Amino acid sequence: MEIYRTRRLRANNAIRSLVRENHLQIDDLIYPLFIEEGTNIEKEIPSMPGIFRYSIDKLKKELDEITELGIKAVLLFGIPLNKDEEGSETWNDNGIIQQGIRFIKENYPQLYIITDVCFCEYTSHGHCGVLCCGDVDNDLTLKNIEKQVLSHAKAGADMVAPSGMMDGTVGTIRKVLDESNFTKVAIMGYSIKYSSAYYGPFRDAADSAPSFGDRKTYQMDPANRHEAMIEAKYDDLEQADILMVKPALSYLDIIRDLKNSTNKPVACYNVSGEYAMIKAADEKGWINGTEVMMESLLSMKRAGAKIIITYFAKEVAKILKNKQ
Ligand code: PBG
Ligand code: ZN
Repeated sequence: MEIYRTRRLRANNAIRSLVRENHLQIDDLIYPLFIEEGTNIEKEIPSMPGIFRYSIDKLKKELDEITELGIKAVLLFGIPLNKDEEGSETWNDNGIIQQGIRFIKENYPQLYIITDVCFCEYTSHGHCGVLCCGDVDNDLTLKNIEKQVLSHAKAGADMVAPSGMMDGTVGTIRKVLDESNFTKVAIMGYSIKYSSAYYGPFRDAADSAPSFGDRKTYQMDPANRHEAMIEAKYDDLEQADILMVKPALSYLDIIRDLKNSTNKPVACYNVSGEYAMIKAADEKGWINGTEVMMESLLSMKRAGAKIIITYFAKEVAKILKNKQ
């Protein structure tokens, strides 16, 4: 038999474009934002060059840039002044996230606001819920999650994204939102969230490292693949609107498994450690950071994610805009 020449479809840019199967779009991106209580704060996170913690009075420049680039959605993380055992600031209607939501809604009504729903930035011990006997108590934490999401919804959040990996979270949230007439507020489940060392830089960024132990009693074991589908199945049944896998790059197989098992939109979280590695290697001149960034994010699309939460969102949007 003659050689089948696959190179024919790689001969020039036109034919490569015609047969290209996956594309990154600005529309796919969610940009995480760290909002800190206080004034005049614009602090770069050392392990995440280009990413800042802002107080609300300093947010405008960042939000102008995001919206001008065509980024349509942000994921908000709050850094409060005061922490306590339960993280009660999370359900303070005048807390940092609630103020942030109102500020964005007033000034950038077109921006879609997703809030991270968790406690680790707000608890004195840094765990993702209420402690009982040295472990996070699932059902006591669910009670506080109800208060937190209602407060976010009242402030005007479009979507809530619970990241604490407590069982029954999504169902609890859907019920309490519906009972309070917030039927339009959507839920993105951090459905499959692994206990990962890739979160290191984020914990510096958000002041959320656990003061003792680790998160292994609630976040998933990186060794497990089938268990991930159980997590996603229950988030789906409990009416999550979007299912997410986190981290992304080391879990592309899980993204693909999830994509093959659901018709709901699949999201992935390109986490802080993935960002930091590319930035560090680029700074050293060891890789071309821009190209590695684009290739990594494209691999997440190819794996099956429609939506990518990424600290690279602004950089990617700049590149994609110039291409048009
Ligand atoms: C905690 C939370 C984490 C991230 C988002 N929310 C990490 C953790 O479990 O400590 C990680 C984000 C990132 O690394 O970019 N609920
Ligand atoms: Zn947490």
